[in-house]
Amino acid sequence: MNNTWNPDVYLRYEAYRARPALDLIAQIPLDVDGPIVDLGCGPGNVTKALKDQWPDRDVMGVDLSPDMLNKARNEFSESGIKWQKGDITIWQADSPQALVFSNAVLHWVTDHAAVVPRLADMIVPGGWLAFQIPVTEQSAYQKCIRATVTSGRWADQLADVWMYKDPMEPEDFYDLLAPACDPIDIWVTDYHHVLGGDNPVFDWIVGTGLTPYLSVLNETDQQDFIADYSKRVAAAYPKQADGKTLFLMKRIFVLARKR
Ligand SMILES: C[S@@+](CC[C@H](N)C(=O)[O-])C[C@H]1O[C@@H](n2cnc3c(N)ncnc32)[C@H](O)[C@@H]1O
Repeated sequence: MNNTWNPDVYLRYEAYRARPALDLIAQIPLDVDGPIVDLGCGPGNVTKALKDQWPDRDVMGVDLSPDMLNKARNEFSESGIKWQKGDITIWQADSPQALVFSNAVLHWVTDHAAVVPRLADMIVPGGWLAFQIPVTEQSAYQKCIRATVTSGRWADQLADVWMYKDPMEPEDFYDLLAPACDPIDIWVTDYHHVLGGDNPVFDWIVGTGLTPYLSVLNETDQQDFIADYSKRVAAAYPKQADGKTLFLMKRIFVLARKR
């Protein structure tokens, strides 16, 4: 997929974006030796949280985006974390991992039935696979993306660009992992982020969900696309009495121990 990530825009809501990752890390009872990899590490702040949690481990952050990796390298140059460019769909660990971790990345790839068991294959017996994926196909902000993509003069140009789809159901993740893992813990959490600002859901999404579309449009179309989406999403998320906006993000978590 062709997308362009801007680490500074992405980090505007750093604390909110990191919260599910920290919630997932808190559930991992890592008790076998071996390295840790954070696949789709982005700007590296979650990778640093993994290193802080297990300081004696070798930790590596892997991401497709050179801009994200540069940000991570610069920000955490003293951390001892290694950074590598790689695609989660084909990346292969040099040695078996104690923990394969991935937060808010797998929705960018489609073939979970192939990717997820491959990730489990890289883990030592007793090690852990831990990932979190947003579940937002029915959310107001995704409906606004679909409306903007399909109703503008760019509709044909964007027809084949990636469009968010919900991940598989918990039962399907369970069946996918059960041959290699036990126990398997799956849960879904609704986060109601309380955001300040004039159009905060737009500010959040422009750094993530809009990147695939903006990256293929020319500058004029980008501006008009942004204006159209900004208007739709502002109307879809009315403000509370105190001027704040509640932004619902539903997320599925999977934590599985390799047999
Ligand atoms: C929403 S950000 C999440 C970043 C980080 N995991 C976090 O929790 O803050 C998604 C990241 O996934 C990366 N990404 C998207 N597709 C990828 C792929 N196929 N392989 C590796 N990284 C990918 C993007 O470059 C981006 O940095």
